[in-house]
Amino acid sequence: MTPQLEDLFSFLRFPSISTDSTHAPDVLACAQWLVGKLAGMGLEASLHETARHPIVLARSIPQSDKKTVLIYGHYDVQPVDPLPLWHSPPFEPEIRDGKIWARGTSDNKGQMLAHVLGVEQTLKEKGELPVNLIFLFEGEEEIGSPNLAAFLQENREFLACDIIAVSDTGMVAEGIPTLSYGLRGITCAEVTLRGPKGDLHSGIYGGAVANPATAIARLVNSLHDSEGKILIEGFYNDVRPLEAWERDMWSAIPGAADEDFLRVTGSPAPFGEAGYSSAERIWARPTAEVNGIGAGYQGEGSKTVIPAQAFAKFSFRLVPDQDPRDISEKIRAHFLAHCPAGVTCEVEIGHDGKPYIADPHSPYGKAAQKALKNAFGRDPVLIREGGSIPIVQTFREILGCDTLLLGLAIPGCQIHAPNENFPVANFEAGIRLNQHLLAELAN
Ligand code: BES
Ligand code: ZN
Repeated sequence: MTPQLEDLFSFLRFPSISTDSTHAPDVLACAQWLVGKLAGMGLEASLHETARHPIVLARSIPQSDKKTVLIYGHYDVQPVDPLPLWHSPPFEPEIRDGKIWARGTSDNKGQMLAHVLGVEQTLKEKGELPVNLIFLFEGEEEIGSPNLAAFLQENREFLACDIIAVSDTGMVAEGIPTLSYGLRGITCAEVTLRGPKGDLHSGIYGGAVANPATAIARLVNSLHDSEGKILIEGFYNDVRPLEAWERDMWSAIPGAADEDFLRVTGSPAPFGEAGYSSAERIWARPTAEVNGIGAGYQGEGSKTVIPAQAFAKFSFRLVPDQDPRDISEKIRAHFLAHCPAGVTCEVEIGHDGKPYIADPHSPYGKAAQKALKNAFGRDPVLIREGGSIPIVQTFREILGCDTLLLGLAIPGCQIHAPNENFPVANFEAGIRLNQHLLAELAN
């Protein structure tokens, strides 16, 4: 195994699950390992405690004649359940079929470390970097980055930079270099419907009281029309329409046709807002999704009961120029107005993040495209992403600069799911990409 893969394996062995407080010591140990790695490369590295998980910073000695590039990544990972579905233990990395298998390989430890190792390689080869470099790594991305914005505010001077680079997005397909120039925003919500004071016998009382399980189904149903359009009042008011050049460009991207999304997802048929392709629905249109729903008996066989309450958890993906705070109020109003008769409705708004869009043809965008071409040997495609990295828009608001999103995960990487993996080739490409990127951004 190469020393680079050995480093990655060490990094992957930390179960740095940010949402689970029992893993807080592992998150900390992972951050400490990173500081050690960065300091060992000759960078000025430091660990910064927050209310929850630490932020790791490192930089090269700044030189006034050089541009400053900030590279962001996250070393926290998603939980591993359902554990029985993993083919090998999530925190014991293995290479099979040219892929590295472990939690965090492609979200986001593999890409993050590829940047670190690219810098290490350049320092070894050239003794210095073509730019001033800042690494900013957080341990709270998967829980919505609750402490990062305040950290950016407090450290604005230290973090001042010309451009930011992040590799925490996807490639449309294996071998197709991908520059993303947009991300969807997000707002989460949870609804609880309450009916009788306790579970009831469905024969003794059924028919005379509202069933909260039926009511939650009706409430969920109120969100869309039969063609997938969202029925929340004013929801689309601020949606920026797709531009003609984007629609043209996306329709020709290999690996992004409706059939490709069917193959990757295994769904029997495409479904979504009428008038848009799958790529357009994912990259440029907002959604309302149920992430979890529950009520009543879930065990074997039948149990004749009317559940006392029911819940559903939602996430709404947002696009430019929707504002998460404005949309959450509209969501709350919708749920309260559509609460079925006979139950009470409680709406809790969860975390949120703004959407992001930038010009892929800006000078820095062009430099990123060149770097991708050099690393992969073919011209990159330009897409927006369906996923969210809320801190990217916050970077723009606080640090005043744009972010280049250079994807390295492929559709089969199974991020957030069992058997997360990352092709060894993409890890190696990531190391090369970092070297090309810093060279192109220096110009
Ligand atoms: N790396 C993902 C985001 C991502 C994945 C963007 C693939 C584009 C393509 C990130 O770690 C993530 O999962 N973000 C969350 C954000 C949420 C917790 C605020 C998401 O998108 O659900
Ligand atoms: Zn993630």
